[in-house]
Amino acid sequence: MVSEDKGMRPSMAVNLGGIQMRNPVNTASGAFGFGWQFEGFYDVGATLGAITCKGVSAEPWEGNPAPRMCEVTSGILNSVGLANPGVAGMLAKSGEYLQGLEAAGCRVIVQAVGHSVEEYVAAVERLEELAPWASAVEMNISCPNIARGGKLVGGTPEDAAEVVRAVRPRVSRPLLVKMGPVRVPEIARACEAEGADALSLINTVNAMSIDVHTRRSRLSRPTGGLSGPAIHPIAVRMVWEAANAVRIPVNGIGGVATWQDAAEMILAGATSVTVGTANLYDPVAARDVAAGLEAWVAEQGVADVNELIGAVEC
Ligand SMILES: Cc1cc2nc3c(=O)[nH]c(=O)nc-3n(C[C@H](O)[C@H](O)[C@H](O)COP(=O)(O)O)c2cc1C
Repeated sequence: MVSEDKGMRPSMAVNLGGIQMRNPVNTASGAFGFGWQFEGFYDVGATLGAITCKGVSAEPWEGNPAPRMCEVTSGILNSVGLANPGVAGMLAKSGEYLQGLEAAGCRVIVQAVGHSVEEYVAAVERLEELAPWASAVEMNISCPNIARGGKLVGGTPEDAAEVVRAVRPRVSRPLLVKMGPVRVPEIARACEAEGADALSLINTVNAMSIDVHTRRSRLSRPTGGLSGPAIHPIAVRMVWEAANAVRIPVNGIGGVATWQDAAEMILAGATSVTVGTANLYDPVAARDVAAGLEAWVAEQGVADVNELIGAVEC
């Protein structure tokens, strides 16, 4: 529908698989802390549609040794290794703040990680017990599976289906599955078939950077995950593939730094758009994306952002 009054603000509310968001803007797991780290820059609870917390396991994980982050052209490489304080540790420090975000209308998505199906189940059970107030649970299926020699837990449609099947009955609220940048249409369909309510993609892209003086990897491990503007066009393509493969909504992630990047994701088929690495070098990036997106929707002459989801013409 074309908006009759150009002066009226468009409706920006979206429904991401049962998560009612005031606007489509979310922040990426691991690249926005637990939200409170950004309070000195803007009012997170009054501004964002949602935040996605750093992935947590049932018990704390140390992660990989330093150096675990380095800058590359148009992005960063990280090998953090999913270091996290565990469910109870996260909630001891950030639980009260996160509940305040929910009360302010900013949806909180807690994220579970694991190295095996059993570890995912343990993490979501702890989240059900200790964080029942969070709007949704996301499972990051791009973790290495220890029993299978470090292969990604959700690296094939069969493996993704197995872990979603195990977790789904244990989560009483919307379940998002965070996918890596591999076999997107098939894995998206496998997650949908097992009851995922929405898909988040993409996670980082496996990459490498070498110090030519020392001839060593610039990280403590040979490879790491590439994020930031460098991966944006890859992410747009994969979001478009996923949105065309499934009926459940897609949360678009990857190199979103400006409202134009976010608008591209929406046109490609994303219902919500997530800002990650950009927060690390521009702490008000997500706020500015939310404001710019609203102005773009108005400028497009539509009354509701939902009219633009998947509206790319190819
Ligand atoms: C330092 C760092 C830590 C991350 N930790 C997680 C994590 O715990 N779980 C997860 O699903 N993704 C994690 N990610 C990936 C991001 O959530 C996001 O999918 C990826 O960075 C691509 O988006 P971007 O280009 O906007 O950063 C991490 C990324 C960075 C840079």
